[in-house]
Amino acid sequence: MKYLTMIAALAFAGSAMAVDCTDCHEKIDVTMHTEEAATIATCNDCHDFNDAHELDMDMHTPDLTIAECADCHE
Ligand code: HEC
Ligand code: HEC
Ligand code: HEC
Repeated sequence: MKYLTMIAALAFAGSAMAVDCTDCHEKIDVTMHTEEAATIATCNDCHDFNDAHELDMDMHTPDLTIAECADCHE
């Protein structure tokens, strides 16, 4: 899965960027979120993430960590 994520990251590096979260949100406090070990699977423990956004699960595997979001998002 890590390998697939990397391929996807490379594939998107040169094309139109993924959504820029900071267009609508405060910059994510990555340190705090890393300490909480936040992954796609746990966002909903603290946020109404799934209600607000629909994720493409090919791109966003449940074990994807918050630090990895920055590979494609700001
Ligand atoms: C076009 C504007 C827009 C963009 C871009 C956007 N969001 Fe959102 N987001 C919203 C709206 C609207 C909501 C629902 C209202 C709210 O809770 O603020 C929301 C809700 C959320 C929530 C739940 C908030 C909570 O506390 O319940 C999370 C987490 C979130 N977004 C993460 C992201 C991430 C990560 C990105 C970047 C990949 C992103 N958003 C990009 C508009 C946006
Ligand atoms: C242990 C609880 C917890 C988990 C798990 C968690 N967050 Fe958060 N998150 C917070 C807190 C606390 C804040 C700061 C207060 C706030 O803005 O709601 C925050 C803030 C944010 C913000 C900025 C909010 C805004 O509207 O500006 C985003 C975006 C965000 N988190 C995304 C995520 C994503 C994506 C995940 C899953 C990968 C995640 N969080 C998992 C607790 C959590
Ligand atoms: C490999 C690159 C990549 C990674 C890593 C990645 N994303 Fe994304 N993401 C994308 C692309 C490309 C899109 C836009 C296309 C789509 O919606 O499928 C997107 C869309 C989104 C959206 C939808 C925004 C909307 O339009 O509502 C959210 C939310 C989001 N990502 C959150 C995250 C979070 C949270 C993480 C980290 C846990 C993450 N992404 C990691 C590439 C990535």
